[in-house]
Amino acid sequence: MSKYKIAWLPGDGVGPELADLAKIVLNTLGLDASFINGDIGWEFWKNEGNPLPTRTRKIIQETDCAFMVAITSKPQSQAIKELEPSIEKEGIKYISPILKIRQDMDLHTNIRPCKSYFGNRLNYRDDIDITIIRENTEGLYSGVEFLPVPDEVFSVLKNHNTNMNRFAEHSLNDIAISTRICTRKGCRSIIYQAFEYAKKNNKKSVTLVDKPNVLRETGQLMSEEARKIAKEYPEINFSEANMDAMCMWMVKNPEKYDVLVAENMFGDILSDLAAQLVGGLGFVGSSNIGEGYALFEPCHGSVPKYKGENKVNPIATFVSLIMMLDWLGEKGMAKNLENAISNLIKMNKYGTYDMGFNNNNIEITQHICDNLNSGKN
Ligand code: IPM
Ligand code: MG
Repeated sequence: MSKYKIAWLPGDGVGPELADLAKIVLNTLGLDASFINGDIGWEFWKNEGNPLPTRTRKIIQETDCAFMVAITSKPQSQAIKELEPSIEKEGIKYISPILKIRQDMDLHTNIRPCKSYFGNRLNYRDDIDITIIRENTEGLYSGVEFLPVPDEVFSVLKNHNTNMNRFAEHSLNDIAISTRICTRKGCRSIIYQAFEYAKKNNKKSVTLVDKPNVLRETGQLMSEEARKIAKEYPEINFSEANMDAMCMWMVKNPEKYDVLVAENMFGDILSDLAAQLVGGLGFVGSSNIGEGYALFEPCHGSVPKYKGENKVNPIATFVSLIMMLDWLGEKGMAKNLENAISNLIKMNKYGTYDMGFNNNNIEITQHICDNLNSGKN
C-alpha cells in the first residue's frame, strides 16, 4: 500500500497535459503515493449536467488530499447552451466545481504566496514576497443569490434598510441580489490563519484588506475580530487597508507587504494582482486548506485556446506540488523541487512563451527533473 492516497483531478483545457507533467515530477522525486483519477470539469457538465459527479466527490472523501489543475467556468446562460440536448435543463445550475469542493470539504483557508523568483525577468521587482490569505467558503462567494427576488426577501429588506426605497419601484424580476455573508467564526478563523502563517514563516506584518467604509456590517465584523486577534501577536505588525487603496499600494510599493488577509472575493482579486507582480499566473500556486483535508491547484485557469499545445507555463502547477508536499510533511522533496525551479529560472536559459523563451512545457519539465536528480546527489 502506498503512503498517500491523492485525488488526482486534471480537469479540462490545459489541465490534463499539466497534470501529466506534474506526475513526471512526483515520480522523479519518488513520492510514494497512489493517484485516484477523478472526473471533473466542462466535459462532465456538458454530458452529465454535473461538472463534479458524485463518484468524484466520493474519491475526494476517501483520499488524503487532492491535486487539481484547471477547470473551465462559464456564466450560467452560456453553460446551459452547451449542455447535451438530452439533459433536462429545468432548474439546473452551473456551479464551479472548485467552489463546490471548497464548501463541501470546508476548505476555509486559501493560501497564495506570490514571491519573485530571483532572475525572473518578468518580475515587477525582485524583492516581492506577498502571501494572500483568502477566506475560501463564505463572503461574496456564499452562493446566496436571488433573481427574481422572492417577496418575503424583498419585504424584509424594505423594512430594514432605508436605501431599499430606491429600489421599491422596480419589479422583483428586475432586481438581482448577490449576498456577502461573513460569519464571526469565518472571520476569526481566517484572521488566525493569517497570523499563524506570519508567525510560522517569520513575516513581519499582516494587513487586513477590505472595504469597511462601504461594506459596513461585514467589513466591521472582520475588522473588529482582526483588531482583537492582533493583540495576541504583538511581535507582528498589524494594519488595515481599503481594497481600492491596496491595489494602488501594491503596484506602488509591493515590497512593503508580507501577509494580506481578505474576504473571499477581495482575496481572489488581490491574488491575481500580486501574481502579475511576480511574473503572472504562470508562477503562482495555491493551497485550499481545511481540517485534515486540503486541495492544491495552480491559480491560473484552463486556457482552452492552448489546449494540447504544451505551451502553458507549468511552474504554477509545480509550485502547487511544493505546497502539497509541504502539507504532507515531505519537506525534503518540497525543498528539492523549490530549488530545481529557482535554479531553472535563475539560469535564464529556458522558459515557456510567457517568459520570452520558446521551450514547450515538456522541455521545461525535463530541465526541472534533471535539476531534481542532481539535487539528490
Ligand atoms: C480562483 C479562481 C476561481 C475563484 C474561479 C475559477 C471560480 O478564479 O481560484 O482564484 O474565483 O475562486
Ligand atoms: Mg481567481
